[in-house]
Amino acid sequence: MHAVILNSSFRRRGNSELLSKLILKRIENNKNSAEIINLRDYKLLQCDGCMKCVFKNERCPLPDDFYSLMEKTVKADALFLIAPTYVTTIPGSLKLLMDRYLLMSSYFEKLYSKPAVSIGVASPIDWFSFQLPLMNMFLLGLGFKIIDSFLILGAGPGEVLLEGDSLSRLDYAIKKILSPSPQLEEYKEKISTHCPVCFSMLFERIDQERIRCPVCHAQAKWTKKGFIFSKESVKNHRWTKENIEEHFKNWILRTKELFRKNLPEIISKKKEFGL
Ligand SMILES: Cc1cc2nc3c(=O)[nH]c(=O)nc-3n(C[C@H](O)[C@H](O)[C@H](O)COP(=O)(O)O)c2cc1C
Repeated sequence: MHAVILNSSFRRRGNSELLSKLILKRIENNKNSAEIINLRDYKLLQCDGCMKCVFKNERCPLPDDFYSLMEKTVKADALFLIAPTYVTTIPGSLKLLMDRYLLMSSYFEKLYSKPAVSIGVASPIDWFSFQLPLMNMFLLGLGFKIIDSFLILGAGPGEVLLEGDSLSRLDYAIKKILSPSPQLEEYKEKISTHCPVCFSMLFERIDQERIRCPVCHAQAKWTKKGFIFSKESVKNHRWTKENIEEHFKNWILRTKELFRKNLPEIISKKKEFGL
């Protein structure tokens, strides 16, 4: 078993780096191999939406390290994603990588259903609502199956090491990932506080009785005691292989013909607005 630990923090000797090293040690002590990938060592540029990767099936022309980063990531049998919280959400380094989503889809098949754990590092001040949902969106977009997702609190470098309960959860997550079949048991409908697919606790309200997870579109009934996610929508969430194929075929690829159809009207609007 080879685990990849993806550290998104640019702070040297900070909390994410320490957690990455701790995970590496624990995995190696279990006679498995692991590797830390520090995002700060890779140059990543912003996707400029040229769409060559989609419509021309070409390599991304941006002169950066996207492919070498993905070559390492794709070797993972399991992935730990670690990211500090910046202004309630993920740092720009990880968002830059996530914005290469159209290219990532070529790795989706290879990584599909492999287990992953996301660990957000945050200050203990309740400014972190978007952190785990966004981290998990990244993991699901790459095809991973999330087996645990949690925050470890700490502002100053090293403070995460004082969080005994969270470190126990981390140990448990490592144990789970190293177990021969670290997949979640089949989902059974029950009262829940979070989305069973992606662990999100942020929800969109559909109507008086129903809510939807904005990350994976699993739907739940809203009861006084908590949420009951429907088995069908959990099984058929946004990031399944079938739904992603469908999304590419029936939306992303179709945007070209749609644009062609709209082009004469766009040209005339540009003239009208003097653009
Ligand atoms: C620019 C910046 C923005 C931050 N924003 C938040 C925030 O919104 N919520 C929070 O909980 N912590 C925030 N923090 C604190 C970091 O998440 C915290 O210090 C964390 O331990 C950093 O992890 P690292 O040492 O791995 O880089 C912010 C830190 C920086 C530098």
